[in-house]
Amino acid sequence: MKKLVLSLVLVFTSTFASIADEGMWLPYLLKQLNEKDMKKNGCKLSAEDIYSINKSSLKDAIVQFGGGCTGEIISDKGLLLTNHHCGYSAVASHSTVEKDYLTHGFWAMNQSEELPNQGLTATFIIRMEDVTEKINKNLQAYFSPVQKDSTLKANAKELELEAVKGTHYEAFTRPFYYGNMYVLFVTEVFKDVRLVGAPPSFIGKFGGDTDNWVWPRHTGDFSIFRIYAGKDNKPAEYSKDNVPYVPRRSLNISIKGTEEGDFTMVYGFPGRTQEYLFSAGVDMLMNVEDPVKVSLREKRLGIMDKFMKADDQTRINYAPNYASVANYWKKWLGEMTGLKQSNAVEKKKAWEKDFLTQVATNPEDSKKFNELFAEFQKIYEEYAVYNKQLSYLNEGLFGVNAFAYARNFDKLVNEVNKSKAKKTDFKKEYEKIKGEYTGYHKYTNRAMDLQLMIAMLDMYDKGLGKQQKVPYIDSLIIAYEGNTERLAKDLFQTSAILDKEKVAKILENPEGNLDAITKDPMYVLYSKTISYYNTSVRPYSSKYEARLNEMYKIYMAGQLKYMKGKQFYPDANSTMRLTYGKIKGTKPRDGLIYNYYTTLDGIMEKENPAIDDYVVFPRLKELYAKKDYGQYADKNGKLRVAFIAANHTTGGNSGSPVLNAKGELIGTNFDRAWEGTMSDVMYNPDICRNISLDIRYTLFVIDKYAGAGYLINEMKLVK
Ligand code: ARG
Ligand code: ASP
Repeated sequence: MKKLVLSLVLVFTSTFASIADEGMWLPYLLKQLNEKDMKKNGCKLSAEDIYSINKSSLKDAIVQFGGGCTGEIISDKGLLLTNHHCGYSAVASHSTVEKDYLTHGFWAMNQSEELPNQGLTATFIIRMEDVTEKINKNLQAYFSPVQKDSTLKANAKELELEAVKGTHYEAFTRPFYYGNMYVLFVTEVFKDVRLVGAPPSFIGKFGGDTDNWVWPRHTGDFSIFRIYAGKDNKPAEYSKDNVPYVPRRSLNISIKGTEEGDFTMVYGFPGRTQEYLFSAGVDMLMNVEDPVKVSLREKRLGIMDKFMKADDQTRINYAPNYASVANYWKKWLGEMTGLKQSNAVEKKKAWEKDFLTQVATNPEDSKKFNELFAEFQKIYEEYAVYNKQLSYLNEGLFGVNAFAYARNFDKLVNEVNKSKAKKTDFKKEYEKIKGEYTGYHKYTNRAMDLQLMIAMLDMYDKGLGKQQKVPYIDSLIIAYEGNTERLAKDLFQTSAILDKEKVAKILENPEGNLDAITKDPMYVLYSKTISYYNTSVRPYSSKYEARLNEMYKIYMAGQLKYMKGKQFYPDANSTMRLTYGKIKGTKPRDGLIYNYYTTLDGIMEKENPAIDDYVVFPRLKELYAKKDYGQYADKNGKLRVAFIAANHTTGGNSGSPVLNAKGELIGTNFDRAWEGTMSDVMYNPDICRNISLDIRYTLFVIDKYAGAGYLINEMKLVK
């Protein structure tokens, strides 16, 4: 074991000369892997300026914002910049029909007006460390998978505890390269993060879902928060006595402007990529998984859109959910199209052929990998069926609120039964979870939910073969002669948990009313569905997934060993990475050229009062008419809005700082261009582009549009 580990560490840190564009690099390895190449491409900083555990470095200005975005610190008073779509649910949660911050924007005019957000966190990385060897301690080759897993977990736990002993820090360990390497992260998590400002949606969401994932882009996708700390500058739960956090580092902001060819880097927390999938895995993704999920979401979005347009309260309640459903619907559509167009499966097959040729020099390995490839082929064929069943559950039935809501009652029934068995005081436990049961009746548009139920039952019925359907759902649909509308209406009418008054009664005394819950038709539908999945789908899908993981670990180690010409970087896994590339337009398709930037002129070109996504409020038109851009104009007097560059980014990189060669902030990453959305599976430097908001547009909106210039005074501008 130890020998393998050591040789892999060597492979990671010495063999590959990297090149810009592709790759999401671990900051602590920049020195070995990237520094030379970065300098060659124009970077003026050393690896130590970007990531250091000995002195303050750029990393100290970067946070993971909430669970899924990135943010950067832009003042010495803890001011935090991220995307509008990352702050969206916070803004929505403070909005009402009367005080509609989503539509009109929100600006705190002083610190006392900044709005707290329960549950929102900002996480700094204190340090990271390769613990591959330590975590593999006492791991024996003959261990069963369960033993291996528990040994790894126990070792990780020990390392994490050790790492934070005597501090207020937190720690976690993550596998890289499918478990060929492990890294420990020590973090500092701030829990009082307040909303400072967000532009109106016509700026922050300009172009809406029509322009989402598309270049040319004109979305002013930013919002501003502030981190608060206790008086000792350490993380603290929300309290009005907390004070603005004084960061170890905040970013300087350059308004000098950018040119094509400029070096840029994006520092943040990319979520998930699968760059080393086997050909059959890519095939399944683009021909089964993506198309099924896309069709289910498309249907749901059509229904939601109709109801949200008809009622303002529904629009506000569902806006964040709609945005996130729409976002990945479109992403998957782009991904499957891009993978097809670029012949991804054939390319993977060519890579695998090449790999086997390299391996042929070693008869033992050659046999091993030929067998492994045959197994990949076979497993994906079988696994695809389960994958499809799971999509119909997760993207279909769970897309209906009533169904998702029934899950709470399953939990409740279990709690009651548990306390009966253990003879504990149920009422006391119940007090803690009681609040979870009213959500449905507060936020759900019932008429819309019914339409979703009808549609999802219908698609479930038509999309899966007889052998793959939940027998109970199948029998219901047969009993209703295929009329899912009548079936869903009956379910909604007869279910007591879907009835506000009836459920309130039931919830007064769940123990006494257990029967009313377990016989409720919506509950029965849920629990029969889940028990089918738990007995006939998940055990198999998890078995395949576990085996695939083992196989990928072997395949990955093989690629690292044999494919000497290629630069390897670990797949994204929501840990801190740096990616770098140049500002660059593209020729995405025949006859089409993308310029590298857009301007306010383009907003006015798109402006259309009849289309929601392209409405522009008068105030911005006035500023445009007067060309009142102040210090934020470019050298031609234009106001730049967004730019594209060849940085390898993914979901989670939203809100990431885009930095110039000196490490100054020039923009905020928020999206990718349509033709390159398959970059999570296969990166193509010719067409993959990340889209960033030009920092000058952000500052213009804060200063000139919102009149919140006092915020600019907190920042350090480089002119
Ligand atoms: N596509 C970008 C990202 O993946 C922005 C999404 C914003 N949401 C939206 N539905 N427009 O996060
Ligand atoms: N928009 C994405 C995000 O929210 C970024 C991307 O997928 O390129 O993280």
